[in-house]
Amino acid sequence: MAILVTGGAGYIGSHTVVELQNSGYDVVVLDNLSNSSEKALDRVSKITGKPVKFYKADILDREALDQIFDKEDIDSCIHFAGLKAVGESVVKPWEYYENNIAGTLTLVDVMRKHGVKNIIFSSSATVYGDPAQIPITEECPKGQCTNPYGWTKSMLEQVLTDIQKADPEWNVMLLRYFNPIGAHKSGTIGENPNGIPNNLMPYITQVAVGKLKELGVFGNDYDTPDGTGVRDYIHVVDLAKGHVKALKKIGENPGLAIYNLGTGKGYSVLDIVKNFEAATGVKIPYVIKPRRAGDIATCYCDASKAAKELGWTAENGIREMCEDSWRWQSNNPNGYED
Ligand code: NAD
Ligand code: UFG
Repeated sequence: MAILVTGGAGYIGSHTVVELQNSGYDVVVLDNLSNSSEKALDRVSKITGKPVKFYKADILDREALDQIFDKEDIDSCIHFAGLKAVGESVVKPWEYYENNIAGTLTLVDVMRKHGVKNIIFSSSATVYGDPAQIPITEECPKGQCTNPYGWTKSMLEQVLTDIQKADPEWNVMLLRYFNPIGAHKSGTIGENPNGIPNNLMPYITQVAVGKLKELGVFGNDYDTPDGTGVRDYIHVVDLAKGHVKALKKIGENPGLAIYNLGTGKGYSVLDIVKNFEAATGVKIPYVIKPRRAGDIATCYCDASKAAKELGWTAENGIREMCEDSWRWQSNNPNGYED
């Protein structure tokens, strides 16, 4: 029995393949490499000492999916494949709805035709919108998303929920990630954004490595302790391990289950800058800029449901997150490019 990992060459996917292989699972990766490199999988294989079975394919390509499901003995799917750049989604909404929604509908249809009814879906804290309560529990109502990317996650949660309701043979795990950062301890796999990074940690590491001049801090007038935005940063290896726990939970036939995957701690932008400097000894020059459209002041979770029901708690603290992000970036200033 194998686990199909869509988007498995990407940032979170590659780290999850490591943890799955280390836990003894047979893994099949499917990725169209639109935002990743096959080299990530070579490096995964070096870390685990096991080959990674890889199909270069698109989740929109029904025929290719059919062939993979015919050939492989797939039991469950961890579905990471999707486009994820918030700003780009505002400019190209059709591409985001097509890729993320039509792609997931195709995948799920092929899955059910092959009798595979276990899916773990990469959702996001973005579905809470401007959260009704802090810390955010899973019972917190979903909110208004500020961009098409966020809506694809919110809508796909609904689609998968309805599919599970109509056919209780399905197990649907909706995992709402908070802010993944960090990299594998080996420093050989990590986040590899195209162009200028949108997210905080890759921006900081690119300033640190000298590719960018200074960090722009988007707003210092929020209602937070130092005025800058507060987020729940989570080490990507902890996040990856959360997927292994979620897969174990599927063995209990949970039906529909929703979990926040975060640490439950909030750090401001300036906290991250200070912690990065302390962990690495590298100074990060920054300037205060206006607020970024669509940003909220504070977002961190109550992580107790995953602790109780999955037996999963994040182990790495902010220091490890900063050290490991930096090890990856400094060893690979150009990501997977030589
Ligand atoms: P990523 O871009 O590194 O990985 C996504 C992978 O999916 C890439 O390798 C890409 O090539 C592949 N892909 C995209 N469209 C595809 C398609 N049509 N067919 C096949 N492969 C396709 O992103 P990531 O950070 O690893 O995120 C993984 C998942 O987690 C995404 O669904 C993302 O929306 C979600 N997520 C990410 C974050 C975050 O901050 N990184 C937060 C919340 C949720
Ligand atoms: N920030 C800066 N400067 C930058 C980049 C970010 O000050 O150059 C600030 C933001 O304003 C925010 C914080 O750093 O306060 C974190 O911003 P990120 O862009 O790293 O992350 P977000 O919380 O905005 O969004 C991320 C993902 C979304 C996902 C969300 C919740 O990009 O896809 O986490 O999981 F939905």
